[in-house]
Amino acid sequence: MPSWRKYLTSSLNAASSPVLASLGKDNTPQVRMLQFRGFIGDRSSTGQRCVSHDEDEQEECLLRFATDLRSEKIPGLLKDPRVELCWWFPETQEQYRLRGLAHLVLPSTTEMEQEKGHHWPLSDISPDKERLVAWRHCVSPASKLLWTWPHPGHGPRASPDSFPDHWQDDMEPQALANFVLCAIQVQRVDLVDLSVRPPDHRIWGKTADQTWEEEEVNP
Ligand SMILES: Cc1cc2nc3c(=O)[nH]c(=O)nc-3n(C[C@H](O)[C@H](O)[C@H](O)COP(=O)(O)O)c2cc1C
Repeated sequence: MPSWRKYLTSSLNAASSPVLASLGKDNTPQVRMLQFRGFIGDRSSTGQRCVSHDEDEQEECLLRFATDLRSEKIPGLLKDPRVELCWWFPETQEQYRLRGLAHLVLPSTTEMEQEKGHHWPLSDISPDKERLVAWRHCVSPASKLLWTWPHPGHGPRASPDSFPDHWQDDMEPQALANFVLCAIQVQRVDLVDLSVRPPDHRIWGKTADQTWEEEEVNP
């Protein structure tokens, strides 16, 4: 496991949501908060096995997020998957910035296409199965309802009875048709820890042979 992941895992004891920055379809910057739903392949969050590779430090780390096929971020991420997450943990006074690539796993009926050359990085985990794992194990019934609601961000606003507040299993096909797994493949991590003086600042990046390298830098 890369050492930055151990830092992040211990910070995660405090609840906090990261902000995701990406480019819109028109190449303008966009940000929004997302709820982190665990590491892909992490047994503790899903009951699934861990992603393990021969060399620990070569491990591919994918952060799991869930979003809606109809949301504005989707066309931009399909066009340009480069993203940065900014994550502030007020309790520990740490800022993480994680740069990487967003892999969107869309419902199989979707006709939208990702840019060519943007491949799912885990050969031993099927993206379609992982989308279902996320749906079944990482989203609460109350949250699942959001994927049945009217088109997010569109107007005019639908009537209150268009927003059901009780999950029923027969809603699943409709909700799953809008459910997108967004897996962020981390390529660079920048951590600033303001709880110590002078602040601790370290950066992890991937070397040419895809191992993680850590550097302590000035705050
Ligand atoms: C604390 C918090 C957590 C959120 N979590 C998610 C999430 O997990 N998935 C999601 O699609 N939107 C989430 N949202 C809503 C997004 O911030 C955003 O409004 C929505 O995804 C539409 O964004 P877009 O128009 O950029 O696509 C969250 C918002 C807040 C404030």
